[in-house]
Amino acid sequence: MKNNINGFSKLSKEKKIDWIAQNYFSEPEKATQLIKSYWNADTKLQQLHDDFIENTITNFYLPLGLSPNFLINGKYYTVPMVIEESSVVAAASKSAKYWSERGGFKTTVFNTEKIGQVHFIFNGDKSKLETFFTKIKAKFHEDTNGTTANMQKRGGGIVDIVLKDKTAVLENYYQLHATFQTKDSMGANFINSCLEQFAKTLKREAVHYSDFTSDEKDIEVIMSILSNYVTNCIVRVEVSCPIAELAEKNIPNPKEFAEKMVKAIRIAEVEPYRAVTHNKGIMNGIDAVVLATGNDFRAVEAGIHAYASKDGQYTSLSHAKIENDIFSYWMEIPLALGTVGGLTSLHPLVKLALEILEKPSAAELMQIVAATGLAQNFAALRSLTTTGIQEGHMKMHLGNIINPFEANTEERLIIEKHFENNTVSHSAVVTFIENLRK
Ligand code: HMG
Repeated sequence: MKNNINGFSKLSKEKKIDWIAQNYFSEPEKATQLIKSYWNADTKLQQLHDDFIENTITNFYLPLGLSPNFLINGKYYTVPMVIEESSVVAAASKSAKYWSERGGFKTTVFNTEKIGQVHFIFNGDKSKLETFFTKIKAKFHEDTNGTTANMQKRGGGIVDIVLKDKTAVLENYYQLHATFQTKDSMGANFINSCLEQFAKTLKREAVHYSDFTSDEKDIEVIMSILSNYVTNCIVRVEVSCPIAELAEKNIPNPKEFAEKMVKAIRIAEVEPYRAVTHNKGIMNGIDAVVLATGNDFRAVEAGIHAYASKDGQYTSLSHAKIENDIFSYWMEIPLALGTVGGLTSLHPLVKLALEILEKPSAAELMQIVAATGLAQNFAALRSLTTTGIQEGHMKMHLGNIINPFEANTEERLIIEKHFENNTVSHSAVVTFIENLRK
């Protein structure tokens, strides 16, 4: 089998498919057919999707679902979610409905600052570097005027640039540490453009600075890049209600339920093995909305998990307490999101998702995403501390188990009816179908 190739990127889409089909499949025609069966008949739409990434051969579908009844700061939202895992949308919907009957989600955005850094090596006298930085600071702003003009009109731009001495952790290592406001855009391109100009300005000015020795003039810029660790772009989400109001179908004893929930969260706060899974449940909700709204879920994931370790040990993102018979449940997370620019203006379904959310600002989207994360976490914990996760999860997964058997409508109804009152497991469903067909 041939599995390396030169110039793959230069091949046409048809030729790329041909290469992969011939080299990796025993039945190349079948593979080609499958790949092409996911092409969109609308060639313009297909071209749009082809151009999102490189070496595209086809589309990879993920379902877009809706989670209604999110009451956030007194306003109802229907939240679009893109995710492949069954039971997540149902769980978020169930929590949203439950909390809408108990006051809804209260959210606050603390700040929306983004961070970018120019990492450089300066081999010389630190106090001279500090004086130099103070003298040339205005030039960083002047040299980026062209880039920042439009952002400034929208009320954003460069907030501050500081020189950071990192020599205690790495020899001769310094940073230009800059903060930005990017309003409704995520701002990655804007920030990176500013940073790359800062780096050029830094080097240019150093060469002409007469107080520097020749070594000091030779500043080595290692890289200029935004940070996805947005510690000053924080949203808080909270739900709370009197313990007695927690009562529901599977919660006959609300006091016991509230106490068990608090203990479950305590475990995630002190035990990293549990915290990772606990936070994964939160990310089920967060990633799904981030994806649906065309935002960068890798950046969000990296930033949030770093935040979960900010005090030196990986811990739960959500917290709960009971005080004066009130159950409160909350979470604070960093979230850098955009509702303009990037994929938000390119992908038709992202535009649709943002319309479903009634065209939110970036700050409003932060609140919706955080509420979905907390809702998801509440649903998972509620199941874990009452029925166990498998009951609801497998109930939602039933369709996926039935699908390979190509059950007809009548069979499907019989299977679904049977598993309303019986435990769903892969083997139980398979046995039931086999017996049904005997
Ligand atoms: P249920 O009590 O059987 O639901 O819960 P119900 O039939 O009584 O319906 C109540 C509401 O739930 C519905 O209201 C919907 O909002 C929603 P309605 O629409 O009727 O007015 N709902 C649905 N929405 C859409 N499609 C459906 C559907 N069914 C109910 N088919 C449920 C069933 C699955 C919601 C519940 O058992 C649950 O919340 N389970 C938790 C599931 C979960 O967390 N899944 C995530 C995957 S597991 C994981 O990855 C994370 C984990 O490891 C994290 C951790 O450890 O912390 C668990």
